[in-house]
Amino acid sequence: MTVLVAYGSRYGATRAIAERLGETLRAAGLDADVREATARLDARPYDAFVVGSAAYRGSWLRGPVEFVRRHADLLAERPVWLFSSGPLGHARRDDRGRDLLELTRPAEFVELRDTLAPQDLRVFYGALEPGRLRPLDRLIRRLPSGRRWLPAGDFRDWEEIDAWARGIADRLQGTADRSQGA
Ligand SMILES: Cc1cc2nc3c(=O)[nH]c(=O)nc-3n(C[C@H](O)[C@H](O)[C@H](O)COP(=O)(O)O)c2cc1C
Repeated sequence: MTVLVAYGSRYGATRAIAERLGETLRAAGLDADVREATARLDARPYDAFVVGSAAYRGSWLRGPVEFVRRHADLLAERPVWLFSSGPLGHARRDDRGRDLLELTRPAEFVELRDTLAPQDLRVFYGALEPGRLRPLDRLIRRLPSGRRWLPAGDFRDWEEIDAWARGIADRLQGTADRSQGA
């Protein structure tokens, strides 16, 4: 059972989540490759997929979007998990009491829930280092909404990320055992 962890990342925070997922899947006994998601990335060698992206202005980056759309037929036949990295800060709810993990679900989750029927769709808190931002991102961050919702810092919850990966491994190993008649 070989798993592909494919990610889109602008500044590295989501790449590190993908690498951690890959490490945890391997520690659980699966083969796992971690690759940047692009339209050209070959999906055929893999039995299962974990695909994720950083969210920018409500959407995934282009690489993972192109990857899942190009390979939608193949992915729809195999187990797929989706994740997004985005919300920043320690707040769990906005001023109106709405759950930030719900609010920051990327636009693509709606489409991909239908086309891929994923096993799970998960939003993780992300990280932001202001000194590394491109000029346009720096500008957006200076707007009032950016100052409010894009605080600097590392808010990734590694225990939650590890637990999610262990859950994926459990599901896949259960599937593999059953298909081998165990
Ligand atoms: C300009 C800008 C816009 C962002 N827009 C969103 C957004 O719409 N939703 C969200 O959840 N996070 C948003 N974020 C936060 C990033 O998704 C978060 O920092 C993420 O962990 C970055 O991952 P990366 O380093 O892999 O690109 C934004 C960050 C910046 C700088």
